[in-house]
Amino acid sequence: MRRIDLRSDTFTLPSKEMLDSIPSADLGDDVEAEDPTVNQLQDLAASMFGTEAALLVASGTMGNLVSLMAHCRRGDEVILESEAHIYYYELGGMSAIVGAMPYLVKGQRGKFTAEQLEAAIRHPDLHYPNTRLVCIENTHNRGGGIVWTPREVEAVAKVAHDHGLKVHCDGARIFNAAVALDVDVKEYMRHLDSLSFCLSKGLACPVGSVVVGNREFIEEVRRNRKMVGGGMRQAGIIAAPGIIGLQKMVGRLKEDHSNARRLAEGLNEIPGIKVDMEAVQTNIVLADITGTGWDVDYFVNRACKIGVQVFEFGATKARFVTHYGIDEQDVDDALARLRRLLER
Ligand SMILES: Cc1ncc(COP(=O)(O)O)c(C=O)c1O
Repeated sequence: MRRIDLRSDTFTLPSKEMLDSIPSADLGDDVEAEDPTVNQLQDLAASMFGTEAALLVASGTMGNLVSLMAHCRRGDEVILESEAHIYYYELGGMSAIVGAMPYLVKGQRGKFTAEQLEAAIRHPDLHYPNTRLVCIENTHNRGGGIVWTPREVEAVAKVAHDHGLKVHCDGARIFNAAVALDVDVKEYMRHLDSLSFCLSKGLACPVGSVVVGNREFIEEVRRNRKMVGGGMRQAGIIAAPGIIGLQKMVGRLKEDHSNARRLAEGLNEIPGIKVDMEAVQTNIVLADITGTGWDVDYFVNRACKIGVQVFEFGATKARFVTHYGIDEQDVDDALARLRRLLER
């Protein structure tokens, strides 16, 4: 029985072309900025986002961390949504390492409005920390792959900039957002001061993320990357698949999105499972399984036994993610297996 792994797009395996690109990659010492393949990847990323510069880092977590280190001083306050990945899943690095304090805004499916931001920004006062940075997440992971529109980003960024704050985007899945709305990533970037995106999720690369921003910011990020031990030497072996990811894997994300819709519609036909279709905007499906009468742990275990791997998501939901390596047939097979399981 083929295992159908719908846990996350981080489980994607690299394409053969990516693996084949590694042995022939031109290499050098990237700490000295002398790896030609890394430089090529960074130039490509900067040109796609319309920024002056870009920097390869080891992971999405590191991309956010070194960006926050560049934006903030110890004791500064960072405004972000209450379920932001940076707050929820990055081990408190923003406080432990950056020394910054989170100010959480309760959004709707991971997004907050310009008005909410306006209300959250502190005015100068002897008793208050300095508000320094606003972080958004696009697509929003815990929101269920929710997309910010460029207009929404523009509105929030305008408020931030009017108050002298910088705006960082955790764009781990920014290409999912851009593909879902059929917009260029530059449409987002022109409102932002920095963005970190992952090569190793929907783009199916084995390792890596890239931070984009202006030259001065990226130089600061380069220093921070070295400080946290992320200076890599012949990193062209990571960058070579990254280039293929950017050139060849972005367009196909729409297949993941249509597979997610197909999956969500099918799940809605299974008694006991409910998916809010409005929230299915990219490659993530949050399914409420309360109606099955099972608890989520049990559901996830039973699904695993029939070869359908999903993650639990809170007390009532299971999370399904479509990605490179999951095709329409896998979606149909997963649905058929779950239907049989729940009919029993
Ligand atoms: C929105 C978001 N940001 C950041 C990350 C962190 O990426 P990494 O696992 O490469 O550290 C993830 C990973 O799932 C994510 O979903």
